[in-house]
Amino acid sequence: QDKRESLYVLSQWAGKFFKEQLWNTDIGNSIGLSYFKERGYREDIIKKFDLGYSPDVWTGLVDEARKDGFQDGYLTEIGLAIERDDKSLYDRFRGRVIFPIHNLTGRIIGFGGRTLKTEKSVPKYVNSPESEIYHKSDVLYGLSFAKKAILDQDTCYLVEGYADVISMHQAGLENVVSSSGTSLTTGQIKLISRFTKNVVILYDGDAAGIKASLRGTDMLLEEGLNVKVLLFPDGNDPDSYVQTFGSAAFKEYISAHQQDFIFYKTNILLKDANNDPIKRAEVIRDVVESIALIPDEIKVSVFIRQCSSLLDIEERVLLSELNKIRLHKA
Ligand code: GTP
Ligand code: MN
Ligand code: MN
Ligand code: MN
Ligand code: MN
Repeated sequence: QDKRESLYVLSQWAGKFFKEQLWNTDIGNSIGLSYFKERGYREDIIKKFDLGYSPDVWTGLVDEARKDGFQDGYLTEIGLAIERDDKSLYDRFRGRVIFPIHNLTGRIIGFGGRTLKTEKSVPKYVNSPESEIYHKSDVLYGLSFAKKAILDQDTCYLVEGYADVISMHQAGLENVVSSSGTSLTTGQIKLISRFTKNVVILYDGDAAGIKASLRGTDMLLEEGLNVKVLLFPDGNDPDSYVQTFGSAAFKEYISAHQQDFIFYKTNILLKDANNDPIKRAEVIRDVVESIALIPDEIKVSVFIRQCSSLLDIEERVLLSELNKIRLHKA
């Protein structure tokens, strides 16, 4: 299709524009490139991920794109430009460092732009909108760079952000993808399961990360994947942990602390329950609800047995609870 191809070409062009701004302008160098370097990113990694910089002006990209013959309609269609009421256009990405988003085959389909400001009033990330070439629910950030390693290791690490993917690559762990801001979708899970059935969730060690990890776990189980989970301590995320403690400590931490979902979920919920018997009963029900999502009966019986010893409840009781949940859903 002609139009789709034009949108790909424009995205590719914009990726190149942002890169040129980063590498070949004084402002891009002193603001953008030095930002990435201060975050600890090596030059080869900055290049590999096509990172860039958008100048802090209203029509930097728009002017250049017009000069190079791109039509306004395409600029607004993929959201590189935004149209005002009077039909004039301005750049969506201004004064931000740029993380291009690639599809499975490595073509650029969208962008994430991070602010360099620290004010809370400025959104930290601005992202490309949905378009004919960018369906967010079917895209995982980093997958084109990760797919070979995912196949080789038969495992995929799932993280929250762009920075986490990049820092893990730099640390030598390349089998990592991110759902980048949107909460995990079934489409994204189906995409992962083309490469591996084993996922390790490495979300941020904050309240939002815990919540997202429990929801993500259930969705992955439902699609028949094996799930392990690990949270980072003290509000760290994979990027901050690896940049603070180094690659060796990072690798050690994740191999020592990743837990099978059932231990993870049980531990998290039991901590809240504080030996209160009613809350404890709720925990049991909650864990069995997750087990009930698993499509493979053999795995179900394995987890029921584990759950029984973990929570010190007879298997018979758990099985009757499991059947109740299933009847309820049928
Ligand atoms: P850094 O501060 O650069 O390390 O970002 P982070 O990836 O650690 O950000 P955070 O953990 O807060 O959020 C995880 C992901 O959610 C980010 O990588 C973004 O994709 C997305 N996100 C974060 N903040 C915003 C925002 O203000 N708007 C939108 N649309 N997405 C956001
Ligand atoms: Mn869509
Ligand atoms: Mn977070
Ligand atoms: Mn984070
Ligand atoms: Mn971070």
